Amino acid sequence: MKAMEKIQRRRSVRSYDPRPVEPEIKERLRQLFQEHNTGPFGTAVRFALLDFEELDPREIKSLGTYGMVRGARLYILAAVKDVPGSQLDLGYCLEKIILEATAMGLGTCWLGGTFRRSSFARQMGLAEDELMPAVTPVGYPAESAALQDRVARVGARSTQRKPWSELFFSADGKTPLTENEAGAYRDALEAVRLGPSAKNRQPWRIVRDEKGRYHLYLKEDRIINRAFGKIRLQHLDMGIAMAHFELAAREWGIEGRWEPRAAAVPLPGLEHIALWEE
Ligand SMILES: Cc1cc2nc3c(=O)[nH]c(=O)nc-3n(C[C@H](O)[C@H](O)[C@H](O)COP(=O)(O)O)c2cc1C
Repeated sequence: MKAMEKIQRRRSVRSYDPRPVEPEIKERLRQLFQEHNTGPFGTAVRFALLDFEELDPREIKSLGTYGMVRGARLYILAAVKDVPGSQLDLGYCLEKIILEATAMGLGTCWLGGTFRRSSFARQMGLAEDELMPAVTPVGYPAESAALQDRVARVGARSTQRKPWSELFFSADGKTPLTENEAGAYRDALEAVRLGPSAKNRQPWRIVRDEKGRYHLYLKEDRIINRAFGKIRLQHLDMGIAMAHFELAAREWGIEGRWEPRAAAVPLPGLEHIALWEE
């Protein structure tokens, strides 16, 4: 399956079918953890598969999602050391795994807020210097989405995405970049636009500089980004954006990579995250 197709197909699934995930699929997920364990910022991401089949009912009860997720029996947990760039790397790596899971017919849902972080962390054996910014259920989507699934989607306005003109800009940081002007990068930018983000806030901004290089910026919403201590939910969003951009660009035969430590023109209200270099 093409990267764009996976990106278009992925959506947050909050109601799951009771049908268990087969052992060979679980094995494949564990393999993906190995294949996607470092990101552009060079930090290591640790993953674990939490299988309710292996837990006793009391433990399962402690692993709540505040009613957000129904029927899931399997979760991917992700942890990083609390060092600069690590949460960007986690967003990048986990989204690549999520897109592979999507291609396998599995549903997922990034959870950065509505889950019992301390109970899940205990299951992961989280070290003192580690953070567990997010988890995702993984399983077969229920045939018909439960009411709370539909309510959650409407609440987060999940199907709405900002138009190109609010996200992508020319070198001055103000003039919108059109799809035509983006040329071979059209899909890469569209892939960013279709990405999931915390509360669907879509904090990614991309500026193409005079040399034709693409800079990724964060337009921070401090309330969302800093709601959970040292966790930065919008850094996860930016990591997801980097994964989407890269996967779509590769499909166009564009060789390049994200360079975190590049100099950039400072833009008011925006935090520079990385530069895409061919
Ligand atoms: C970093 C991050 C954290 C999220 N946290 C939650 C969460 O705690 N609970 C939840 O129900 N959805 C959560 N979401 C899912 C978003 O609401 C969802 O991605 C967005 O509304 C877009 O919908 P879509 O994923 O169906 O395209 C999160 C998404 C991201 C990327």
